[in-house]
Amino acid sequence: MPLECLDRETLVYPDNFINKVICGDSLELMKLIPAEAVELIFTDPPYAISNEVIITRGRNKMKFKGKDISQDFGDWDKFNSLEEFMDWTFKWLDEAVRTLRGGGMLCSYFDRDKVNFISRYLQDKYGFKCKGYYADLKSNPVPQARKVKWMNGWEIIGMWQKPGGKLTYNYQLGQAKDWGVRAIVGHTTKEDGERIHPTQKPISVAKKFISYWSNKDDIVLDPFMGTGFVLVGCKELNRRFIGIEKDTRYCQKAERRLMNTIGSLF
Ligand SMILES: C[S@@+](CC[C@H](N)C(=O)[O-])C[C@H]1O[C@@H](n2cnc3c(N)ncnc32)[C@H](O)[C@@H]1O
Repeated sequence: MPLECLDRETLVYPDNFINKVICGDSLELMKLIPAEAVELIFTDPPYAISNEVIITRGRNKMKFKGKDISQDFGDWDKFNSLEEFMDWTFKWLDEAVRTLRGGGMLCSYFDRDKVNFISRYLQDKYGFKCKGYYADLKSNPVPQARKVKWMNGWEIIGMWQKPGGKLTYNYQLGQAKDWGVRAIVGHTTKEDGERIHPTQKPISVAKKFISYWSNKDDIVLDPFMGTGFVLVGCKELNRRFIGIEKDTRYCQKAERRLMNTIGSLF
């Protein structure tokens, strides 16, 4: 599959979708996935938290080590207003809900300040049941240079079940906590001498979700895959996947990571 961004006329389900890195706009491309085709959605969408602030290190009294840290993650995270952002978010949620089988789980990173908007939307419009929130704790959060608040040391992942089918929850894997601790990926993981993705998430978190909320061979959808943390987790755990990303640079990195991952399904 070539990695140019493809328009929807060029793609056919399932041949161009299953176990593929798909480069393009997920709001358009998800429309080509049949209803109720996927067992689990796990994703990390834009949640409009970018700003112009650069946290400088090594030049102020706090003397942080390392490079400056930008809070500008890219144009993909910028919207003109909260209304515009939520409208866009509800559009992708509508398509995601359509592709998810009854009883399946939709799990998503989101801004802690806005996550209740999507929880209410899924429950009120579609009858989803909220299965709780996972706290993804960072052992090395970005320091607060301005000394006006605590460091932002955790991310939230909402978990919602679609009505109309049986839940997959692999309790036999053992009791699991709704939180976990990990290091920020971008600070420690480099590829070709550069940081992989400004908001890259760890494969270990993806694997925890995939292993509990899906079974071997199931299809897992990540419509905002970035550099493919969910896809790599799926390959390692023998799940099939559909991964969509609009930036070709991230698609290429996801492809490289998948090539270096061992899995038995493909
Ligand atoms: C928060 S990042 C995901 C990073 C990912 N978790 C990782 O570990 O690399 C969200 C991604 O969604 C992509 N994106 C934004 N809008 C999109 C759209 N309409 N269709 C497909 N991808 C989109 C962005 O390019 C960005 O890479």
